[in-house]
Amino acid sequence: MPNQASEAPIGVLDSGVGGLSVLRELRAQLPGEDVLYVADQGHVPYGPRSIRDVQAFSVGVARFLIKRGVKLVVVACNTASAAALYHLRETFPAMPFVGMEPAVKPAARDTHSGVIGVIATEATFQGELYASVVGRFAQGVQVKTRACPEFVLLAEAGDTHSPAAREAVHRCLAPLVEAGIDQLVLGCTHFPFLNDLIQAEVGPHVTIIDPGPAVARQAGRVLAARGLLNGRDGSGRVTYLTSGGPAAFRMALRALLGAGIADSAEVRALRWDGGQLVEGSSA
Ligand code: DGL
Repeated sequence: MPNQASEAPIGVLDSGVGGLSVLRELRAQLPGEDVLYVADQGHVPYGPRSIRDVQAFSVGVARFLIKRGVKLVVVACNTASAAALYHLRETFPAMPFVGMEPAVKPAARDTHSGVIGVIATEATFQGELYASVVGRFAQGVQVKTRACPEFVLLAEAGDTHSPAAREAVHRCLAPLVEAGIDQLVLGCTHFPFLNDLIQAEVGPHVTIIDPGPAVARQAGRVLAARGLLNGRDGSGRVTYLTSGGPAAFRMALRALLGAGIADSAEVRALRWDGGQLVEGSSA
């Protein structure tokens, strides 16, 4: 049963630190909400894995969050949404889920060149969700895609501005620039952290679309429709839980969201125990 109390926390899940790009929008738009953020860093990256594995991890993380009494689960991961969103809704029918899908719709609407770019993980492009988004929204527009798995590893390492990161961004995006895109959809929640390098690579005439703000608005609408918005001002707390190392998570948090947030953050360890996610570090 979902928690029907407005004071209950929102659950946010990702394979790692990518979901922090959605969390920062949730914090900006819904500052009174408490959040439990789960980073499944024991399994990051999800992108090269099978749909079956990503489904199993996503169900495990969602089950953990539901047991901890969340009122909504935000699947702040395009890969997990592509592989598992339908399955999660079927498995936990009473729990509302908000997921990610590549923002092809605004890109196709706003393009002048008629060519849009989408970057994501391999698994996101293989899922039915991506095919359905392109089928519904990209009629008459050329869609150029690139999987950029290196960007996930850079964000996980908190490396968003080094020369090596700049080189990786160039390798991945040069063919899209060459193809004449004027809209670039960030189809992976890790990618907004590389925004400065991405904008420098594609040039000022290309609009970059980060779906984080729209997803946070959708979370607010879902809570409002159920009467579950927490009306407090600004005093929501975030608890971070990782199935990887808490020290490494805190370092990435500092690099991505700043020392002010990272140094006072509550970061706890999780471990997988026979398909179940439980609190505590691995032996
Ligand atoms: N942040 C994720 C996404 O939005 C997952 C990246 C990964 O783990 O490969 O797709």
